[in-house]
Amino acid sequence: MTSGDRPGMRPMRVVMLGAPGTGKGTQASLLAKDLGVVHISTGDMLREAVAQRTPLGLKVEGIMGQGKLVPDELMIQLVSQRLQAADCQEGFILDGFPRTLAQAKALDSLLQERGKAIDAVLVLEVPAEEIVRRLSNRRVCGRCGAVYNLTSDEAARSGICPACGGQLTQRPDDAEATVRERLRVYTRQTAPLQRYYRTQGKLFVIPGARSIDEVQQAVKEALRRVTTTTTSR
Ligand code: AP5
Repeated sequence: MTSGDRPGMRPMRVVMLGAPGTGKGTQASLLAKDLGVVHISTGDMLREAVAQRTPLGLKVEGIMGQGKLVPDELMIQLVSQRLQAADCQEGFILDGFPRTLAQAKALDSLLQERGKAIDAVLVLEVPAEEIVRRLSNRRVCGRCGAVYNLTSDEAARSGICPACGGQLTQRPDDAEATVRERLRVYTRQTAPLQRYYRTQGKLFVIPGARSIDEVQQAVKEALRRVTTTTTSR
């Protein structure tokens, strides 16, 4: 089912903002299924490029391993190509992009050229120590990409994906020192985007240190407010 099949729903373009480990990917994936739109994770796109040893992958592997940001021009090119695909025309959930002011401005211009705009920016907030705990316990399936947490997903403790039988591994950038560097990078380069989107009236701050279900309810409530406001205009 796509958003076009849902009574009262319209295509939505949503950005998930928030520090590493706040649950952007988890929430984006649930929301994309619910809205019937595509989930675009720039981190996943880059990790795929690294795994495939493409020219982009070779360029970014070291940068990602240090917890730094990939240069804006590479990211803007990657996302602008992706957004041209047919599956993005009915809306999308962007997870991990934009991460700098230059990326946010490029995204606005890109959409503006097509008479479109971002509908909502959801920022998840979780205390730093909880983030470190979550990321050191995160495991990802090398085959199907499913994400687990050893603290809550008992079935994942065997190291085998409960969904497909693939091997579960830890992301190289989830080592504690790299997580702390990623948090510093977020504060310095990405957190300022909150002001940018608040000025546009699109920012919703969502406390993320709650259960996945509770956060998802808050996410949907924020989007209902967007739909109500825009349809009553
Ligand atoms: P990216 O992959 O985007 O990483 P990130 O932003 O650091 O975010 P994470 O994937 O670590 O966390 P998340 O918020 O998605 O949390 P998740 O849902 O998995 O980027 C990686 C790298 O790529 C960057 O460092 C950079 O180098 C590069 N990059 C990517 N985009 C870029 C861009 N635009 N510009 C420049 N460089 C870019 O959850 C985390 C864990 O917690 C999981 O185990 C999950 O099961 C668990 N969990 C989730 N929700 C809850 C909850 N409510 N309660 C308890 N546990 C939970």
